[in-house]
Amino acid sequence: MSHDAQQKGSSLTLVLMVASAAIGGTLQYGYNLAIMNAPNTFIQTFINETFRERWAIQLEDFQVTLVWTIIVSIFSLGGLVGAIIAGPMSICFGRKKCLLLNNIFLLSGALLALTSRAARSIEMIILSRVLIGINAGISMNVQPMYFGESAPKHLRGAVSLSSAVFTSFGVVLGQVVGLREILGSESCWQYLLASNAIPGLIQLLTLPWFPESPRYLLIDRGDKEACINALRRLHGCEVESSELAEILEEQAETKGMKPCGPWELFRDRSVRWQLISIMVISSAMQLCGNDSIYFYASYVFKEAGISNEQIQYVTIGTGTCEFTACIMCNLLIERKGRRFMLTGGYILMTVWAVVFTIALSFEHLISWMPYLSMTCIFTYILSFGIGPAGVTGILPTEIFNQTARPAAYMIAGSMMWLNLFVVGMIFPFLVSTARQCCFVPFGSVCLLSALYVGLFLPETKGKSLSAITGEFHVLNFKNEEAHSSQIQYQMGEVCPSTAW
Ligand SMILES: *[C@@H]1O[C@H](CO)[C@@H](O)[C@H](O)[C@H]1NC(C)=O
Repeated sequence: MSHDAQQKGSSLTLVLMVASAAIGGTLQYGYNLAIMNAPNTFIQTFINETFRERWAIQLEDFQVTLVWTIIVSIFSLGGLVGAIIAGPMSICFGRKKCLLLNNIFLLSGALLALTSRAARSIEMIILSRVLIGINAGISMNVQPMYFGESAPKHLRGAVSLSSAVFTSFGVVLGQVVGLREILGSESCWQYLLASNAIPGLIQLLTLPWFPESPRYLLIDRGDKEACINALRRLHGCEVESSELAEILEEQAETKGMKPCGPWELFRDRSVRWQLISIMVISSAMQLCGNDSIYFYASYVFKEAGISNEQIQYVTIGTGTCEFTACIMCNLLIERKGRRFMLTGGYILMTVWAVVFTIALSFEHLISWMPYLSMTCIFTYILSFGIGPAGVTGILPTEIFNQTARPAAYMIAGSMMWLNLFVVGMIFPFLVSTARQCCFVPFGSVCLLSALYVGLFLPETKGKSLSAITGEFHVLNFKNEEAHSSQIQYQMGEVCPSTAW
C-alpha cells in the first residue's frame, strides 16, 4: 500500500471511530433532551390517570407538572452519577471498553421505558430516565477523553468539537423522531422513550472494531506495543514517530504520578484558577437555559405566541440552528480562538435575551411580535452553538494534564449535570410565573459568563500545556510578590507537581 492510501485509510478509521463512539455518546445526550418535548401532554395525562387509578388521588395541574418535571430532570441526576463514576471507570476499563459497558445502562433503561405504559408505572419511567442519564453522564465525559487522546495534534480541536456537533445532531434526530407523524403520537410515547436503544445497539456493533486510545495504552497501561499498533491504525505510518515521541514525553512528565482524585485538585493551589474556570464555564453552559429549551420547547413557544400546530415544526428549527452553529464553530475555532468564541457567544446571547424580553412584553400589542420572539430563540440557540456549546467541552482537555484530566472532567461534568437538574426543575414554572421576564435570569447568566471569560480565561488556542499553565500561574499566585512568583514559576517548570 502506498503512503497516500495508508494515510487516507487511517483518517477514515479516525472518522468512523469518532462516529461510532459519538453515536452512543453525546448523540444520546442530545437525543434524550429532545425526545421529552413531544410527549409532554401525553405523559402528563398518563400521570394524571395513573394517580387516579392506582392511588385514587386527583392531582392538581401544578402537581402533574411537578411530576413531569421530575421525570424530565431526574435524567440529569443520573447524569451526575454517571459523571462521577466515569473517571474511575475509564481508568479501570480503558476508554473504549468503558463506552461499550456503558450501553448496559442504556438498554436496561430503554426496556423499562418500553414496558412502563403497560405496567401503568410512573416509577419505571423515572428509573429509566435515571439509567439513561447515567449512560449519558458516562459517555459525555469519556468520549471527549477518548477523542482528545486518539486524534493527531492538528485535528485534536476539531475531533473534540465533534462531540458538540453530535449533541446537536442528536437533538435534531430526537425532534424529528418526536414528530406526530413518526413516534410523537399519543399511542407511541413508550416507543419514543425507548427509541434511544437503537443508537446504542449500533455502537455495540461497531465500536469493538476500533482501537483503544493510544495515550491510555501507553501512559496508564504502559503497553508500548499496543500503543504503536493503535497509532498505526489511527494516524498511518508517517506521523507515527512524532506522535509516539509526544506521548512518551507526556509519559515521562507524569512518571510516578497516579491519576489524581477530585479532592486533590481542590487542594492544589497551582490549579486553583483552572478549576474555578471549568466550574464556572460548565455551570454557565446549563444555567443559560439552552439545553432546557429542548426539554420544554413547547412551553417556550406557547409563551412566545406560536400556534399549537406549528410548534412541533418550529421545534425542529431550534435543533437545526444549534447543529448548523456547531459546524460553523468547527470551522472558526482554530482561527478565532476559544476565548473569543466563548465571550462572543455569551455577549450575543445576552443581547438576544434582552430582545426576547422586550418582544414578549409587546406580544399582545403588535401582531408580528411572536415572530420576533421566535427569531430571538433561534438566534439565542445559534449564538450558544457557535461558542459555548463546543468550547466548554474541550477546555478540561486543554488546561489539565493526563493525570488530572479524569478528575477535571468529573468536576466539570458534575457542575453541568447539577445545574441542568436545577434549571430543568424550575424551567416550566419559571415560564408560567415570570412570563415575559422568563429569560431575564438566563440573560444575566450569559452576561456574567462573558465578563468572567473576558477577565480571567487565558486563550488556549495552539498553546502547549506548559504555556497555558504559565498563564494560569500568574492568576494562581498573584498575591505573592512579583519576584518571588518569578522564582516559583521557574521552580514550577522543574517540579512536576506544579507545572505540567
Ligand atoms: C387531570 O384530570 C382531570 C380530570 O379528568 C382534568 O380535569 C385535569 O385537567 C387533568 N390535568 C392534567 C394536567 O391533565
